[in-house]
Parts: sequence; C-alpha cells; structure tokens
Amino acid sequence: MPVTIKTPHEIELMREAGKILARVHENLEKELRPGMSTLDIDRIGEEMIRSYGCEPSFKNYQGYPASVCVSVNEEVVHGIPHPHHYIQEGDIVSLDIGVIHKGYHSDAARTHGIGEISREAELLIERTRQSFFEGVKYARAGRYLHRISRAIGKYAGSFGYGVVRDLCGHGIGSELHEEPEIPNFRQFRWGVRLRPGMTLAIEPMINIGLPDVLWLDDEWTVITEDMSLSAHYENTVLITKGEPEILTLTDSEIAAGIGGKKKR
Ligand code: MF3
Ligand code: CO
Repeated sequence: MPVTIKTPHEIELMREAGKILARVHENLEKELRPGMSTLDIDRIGEEMIRSYGCEPSFKNYQGYPASVCVSVNEEVVHGIPHPHHYIQEGDIVSLDIGVIHKGYHSDAARTHGIGEISREAELLIERTRQSFFEGVKYARAGRYLHRISRAIGKYAGSFGYGVVRDLCGHGIGSELHEEPEIPNFRQFRWGVRLRPGMTLAIEPMINIGLPDVLWLDDEWTVITEDMSLSAHYENTVLITKGEPEILTLTDSEIAAGIGGKKKR
C-alpha cells in the first residue's frame, strides 16, 4: 500500500476526527483520580468517544479488548484496562486513544502524572512531549521522513533516555495504520518524501532507562525490560504546503502555543 494523499474532503473529516479526539483527551484527563481503576478510565473514555457519535478505533483492533490503551509507569504502550488495576498518587499514566469519525481515524496519546509525581517523572513527560514537537518541525512538504525520526531520537537521546525502537508511528486515514512507518530514532534510509495531504501519527515512546522493551503474556502490554518509567506522546499531523497542522490539539493547546509559536 502506498502512502495515501487525502482529498480536501477527507482532510476536512480528519480535522473533525482530530478535534473530537483532542476534546476526549482534555475531558478524560479531568476525570483522573487516585484509586480509580484503569478499566474505569477506559469506560469513561469510550463513553466520551461515543457521545460524539464516533467509534473507538482500538476496540477489537486485532483483538485488542478496550477503547483506551492505559499504560502505567513501566508500561510503555498498549496496557489493557483492568478492573483491579488501580492508579495511585505518584503514578504516570499514558492514555492512547483513537476515534473513527465518518470513516476516518485520528490517533493521539498523552502521559499524565497522578497527583504529586517525582521530578524525574515530570521531566520525562515534558521531554517526551517536546521530542514530538522537535520531530514535527520537519513534517513539511518536500522533506524526507527520516528527518522527523532523527530529530525525535536526537532530542530524547540527549537526556540519556532510552528511545523505544521496537514500535513506531504510522500513516493514518481510513485505516488506523497506513504507510509509512515512522521510527523515533535515526534511520539509514531517507524514507518517503512528504507531500501535502499526507496524514501521519507521530508517537515517541521514551524510557528513563534503556530502550529495550518486552511484551507481557497478554500479548499486548509492552513494558520496559529494566522496569524504568516510560512516557508516550502522540498526535495526528497533516502535511500542508506550509506549516504542519497538528490535528489532535485542542484550541486552547494551540492558543497556548504548545510546542510552537505563541499566537498573537
Ligand atoms: N497508537 C497505537 C498505535 O498506533 C494504538 C494502537 S492500540 C491497538 O499502534 F490496540 F489498537 F492496537
Ligand atoms: Co498510533
């Protein structure tokens, strides 16, 4: 499958899908409390998705059983919500969510601290987020994909963090996972040349310790091999003729100049 170029109509639907997902993340963050279960988070998230008339992208995707991937502390991604896995003060919790709106997917992840968290956890979350914005600077027509990968890996690596290599970002559109794969570290191939109308899910997964990960017996949950903390940050991005358009930010995130220039 080649990389798809979205038509103006498809782009409009991807924008809508992105805005809805940005709101789901914003609202779900407000619900997080110590003592709730990871399944509570999934249930609330799924209800929010459906309240917008959307379907959760992940539910039953290749057998994944939930709508929200909830990954706590050393869990990197694809944590399975569980009724007796309770989140606690001091935890860091990554929420990865996809929605299908009128046949088009958006995909985004955020990592949140629960109550007071350690300074090192706070820095990990912030720098993981910033690594996305370092990469997205190169999400421009005419550039080659490897520039995004290199920028993310270089920034995150500069703190001594382990950049996860076994999982990647991806193209996105009428399918959750489209071409191309988007690694978060330096590549020896240039990869595709970016063109307006491409939509990419860029998603650094960064460990405080080593980059190595392993899969639990549930065949989904990915954890750090050294049990160090891990953070995840992801947005769906549209390549345009000019600045990249990040589709899964709320208006207030954009106004606050998250990762970019302040709007005046
Ligand atoms: N953002 C993740 C990804 O792109 C979410 C997939 S979870 C799955 O791989 F359950 F749907 F696989
Ligand atoms: Co993704």
